[in-house]
Amino acid sequence: MSSTITVKTRLPGPKSLQLLAEREKYVPRGISTPTPLFFEKAKGAVLTDVDGNQFIDLAGGFGVMNAGHCPDEVIAAVREQLDRYIHLSFNIAMYEPYVRLAEKLAAITPGQFAKKTMFANSGAEAVENAVKIARKYTGRTGIVALECAFHGRTLMTMTLTSEVKPYKYGFGPLAPEVYKIPSAYCYRCYFGLAYPACEMRCVTNLERFFTVECAADQVAAIIAEPVQGEGGFIVPPPEYLPGLQQICRQHGILLIIDEVQSGFGRTGKMFACEHFGLEPDLITMAKSLAAGFPLSAVTGRSEVMDAPAPGEIGGTYGGNPLSCVASLQVLDLFEREQLLERANRIGEVIRQKFLILQEQYPEIGDVRGLGAMVGIELVKDRQTKAPATELTSRLLKECYERGVIAIRAGLYGNVLRFLAPLVITDDQLAQALEIMEEALKTAVAGQ
Ligand SMILES: Cc1ncc(COP(=O)(O)O)c(C=O)c1O
Repeated sequence: MSSTITVKTRLPGPKSLQLLAEREKYVPRGISTPTPLFFEKAKGAVLTDVDGNQFIDLAGGFGVMNAGHCPDEVIAAVREQLDRYIHLSFNIAMYEPYVRLAEKLAAITPGQFAKKTMFANSGAEAVENAVKIARKYTGRTGIVALECAFHGRTLMTMTLTSEVKPYKYGFGPLAPEVYKIPSAYCYRCYFGLAYPACEMRCVTNLERFFTVECAADQVAAIIAEPVQGEGGFIVPPPEYLPGLQQICRQHGILLIIDEVQSGFGRTGKMFACEHFGLEPDLITMAKSLAAGFPLSAVTGRSEVMDAPAPGEIGGTYGGNPLSCVASLQVLDLFEREQLLERANRIGEVIRQKFLILQEQYPEIGDVRGLGAMVGIELVKDRQTKAPATELTSRLLKECYERGVIAIRAGLYGNVLRFLAPLVITDDQLAQALEIMEEALKTAVAGQ
């Protein structure tokens, strides 16, 4: 196995150090980057920094690069598009790629019913629009979100988000009419119960919620990530989301499924909600939808999507032509390169590795995931489950110093999360996992 990784300078290298000093001067600290490196090239699952060091990427620009960095087909399509036009604004002068992509998303999203799609630029913007559309359609105001959820950083989406620090602390007042219910985080069950003896208290408790928090007929939508991403790669038991869907249907509440992080093959299916047999009324998408070109989407039942009158939704840049043609190529790539099968294979390899390591390291509290959306929760003690947040920081540092870019998640910052491009080769994955093992050994020894 020839090594993909080349670390030939101290890290950060001299050019990164120089840029870091300038960054400190001109970029606010609120924009945080745990890895102190600047990059100049990316291809597939490999990143090259400005000092010529080469890294294996297990973060994929926060889950944006499922189809790999800079796929040739995407670059070619965008180049061709650049020669035609860059921006017209679909609200002024229409163009075909917008409609073609909406047609494609109607076909590949779950649900055998007529669907329509609107495009925006970021995940948060998609969620904002889904909330607006749900309120308009139902004539209700209440929005129910889950604990451990992450939906973005705008006013509405940070309100929907669960983690207080750093996402909402000091940014109030938050948006009104947003309610939280427990998510199915079985490793740290809200009710202190164990699955399946719990009989899904987190679902049945909703009836109580409608009595004590917000009447069901005041709730426009429940929004849920099918696998909670930022919250710690939390996979609910099979009954959880179908249970929520059933309650939604019973009360005329819309189900919004946020696939911003879990979508586009990450879990081994195009959309994670397919694992649970869901047919959401609205789906929000972004990240790997367009291989790094800013694009997000809300796809939903046609009658719901048509609730806002002309002019009530939209935006200057939504559905930029370059992003739309990139996305059409990405969706083709998924079929041609069989990336869904690849996601399952990657997930299996990671899980097997960490299940073996879990036998040696009591610090590995939980190994969980769906497809290649795998999370490893690190704890100080398996009994108390006290989060091993500092150990996770050390582990990530040991990783990048050895040439592997990895990131964390979780309410306590103690979950190692895998968002590697799905085009990562078997060799690259094996190298990255070997390095992670070494890094874990060193990080644990240094405690
Ligand atoms: C599930 C989910 N929803 C929404 C967002 C917000 O997306 P963006 O950062 O593009 O606004 C994210 C970002 O990580 C996410 O994971």
